[in-house]
Order: sequence, then C-alpha cells, then structure tokens
Amino acid sequence: MARLGVNIDHVATLRQARGGHEPDPVAAAVLADLGGADSLVVHLREDRRHIQEQDLTRLRETVPSALNLEMAAEDTMTNIALRVRPDQVTLVPEQRQELTTEGGLAVTDHEDRLALLISRLHDARIPVSLFIDPAPSHIRAAGRVGADAIELHTGHYANSHHPPDIQEAVQSLIQGAGLARQLGLEVHAGHGLTYHNIRRLTSINEIVEFNIGHSIISRAVLVGLERAVREMRACIPFSSSR
Ligand code: PXP
Repeated sequence: MARLGVNIDHVATLRQARGGHEPDPVAAAVLADLGGADSLVVHLREDRRHIQEQDLTRLRETVPSALNLEMAAEDTMTNIALRVRPDQVTLVPEQRQELTTEGGLAVTDHEDRLALLISRLHDARIPVSLFIDPAPSHIRAAGRVGADAIELHTGHYANSHHPPDIQEAVQSLIQGAGLARQLGLEVHAGHGLTYHNIRRLTSINEIVEFNIGHSIISRAVLVGLERAVREMRACIPFSSSR
C-alpha cells in the first residue's frame, strides 16, 4: 500500500488572489490530515506565488502530519529548510535551465550542486527526493548525487489520451521505478494525477508514495460548494417579496 501526500498549494493560491487570510492552508492541512493524508506537501516557490514562509512555520507548529517541502535546489531555500526542518525535501526545477523535456529536474546537468545541497540536508537528517522524468540517465544521476528517493514526474502519463501513448508512458514509469529500486532509491510519483488516472499506477508496486494536489483541491471546491451556499443562505433572512 502506498502513502498519499496531499499538496495544499492551491488553497494558498486562492488566498493570495485576495491577499487576505482565507482560505487558510493550515486549516486545509488539518482537514487533509483528518481525511487520511499521510503527508502534506507544500511548494515554497522563489516567487512566493502561493505558500509563504510563515505558512511553513505555522504548519510545523500546529499540524502533526509529516511535512514534505518542495523547493528549488538553491541556497536560500536550503537555509529555510534547515530552519523549518520538514520530514522530507523534494527538489523541483523552477528555472528554465533546470528543466528536462518533460518537466523534471535535469539532474545530469547539476550533479555537483545537487550533491552538495543534499549533503547539507542530510547533515540535518532531512531525507531528499528529486522530482525527475522517468529517464534512466536522470535516475542513475539521482543515485550518484546521494538522493534518498525520486519522485517520478507523471505529467506525460497524465497528459496522454490515446491508448498507445498511455501504454508507453506507463511502461516508462514501470521501467523507471524498477531501475530506481535497483539503485536503492525509494520511488514516489506525482503531477497531474486524478481520481481516474491514478488507478493504473497503483499496481506499480515500487511506487510507495503518490503526491497529489490539483485534482483533490478541485474536487474539494465542488463537493463543498453546496454546503457553503446553504450556510450563507442561512445567514441572510428570506425576503417575503421577490
Ligand atoms: N509533485 C510535485 C513534485 C509537484 O511539484 C506537484 C505540483 O505541481 C505535485 C506533485 C502535484 O501535482 P498536481 O497538483 O498536478 O497533483
């Protein structure tokens, strides 16, 4: 059985749209925990477009769930991670030159920098996962730089609509997961996963963690909207004439 990490970035995206306090990602984290999330995933971006540094501090202080911090592979973020001490760091690309064709981290182009950064996080006993395409070159490089885990980028699979393309994408995830396990890396998967397309991947036994955000937050808006309207309706006295 695999773990479920729930990415709550988009709760913060909605809050940032108004610049106020609602909805609070920390409250969302508590609910995700109650719903059975095994970990909470937040991406502190360099442009701070959704999650803020203060959210990390509050999450750490108030929510007991495991915290997986996604961040760019650079020094300022590493210093923040060393202060917040998440249960896991997932390094993700944020700059164009760090991207591979499918959107994972170009590990082979940045091995020295990644190895250094991973060893700083290891000194603080923080395990590190690398968000990468299922390409053998990047998976082998993830092993060389000392990563504990890889998160296979499932975007290509999620965006494939024709059966042969889907099959090819699944095959490459299966092969990537197998290679990573042979190298002693833990295997996670994420990006673009939905209530429908997750099914095919749950039979890949090597994948022990799925990290999912957009689909869960989107569904939360729809399954929660009727109740939210009812509650507002109850706040407003009915008018006798229309
Ligand atoms: N895993 C990683 C590394 C991510 O950066 C993201 C967000 O893009 C996700 C998982 C979740 O992706 P989604 O929101 O499409 O479920």
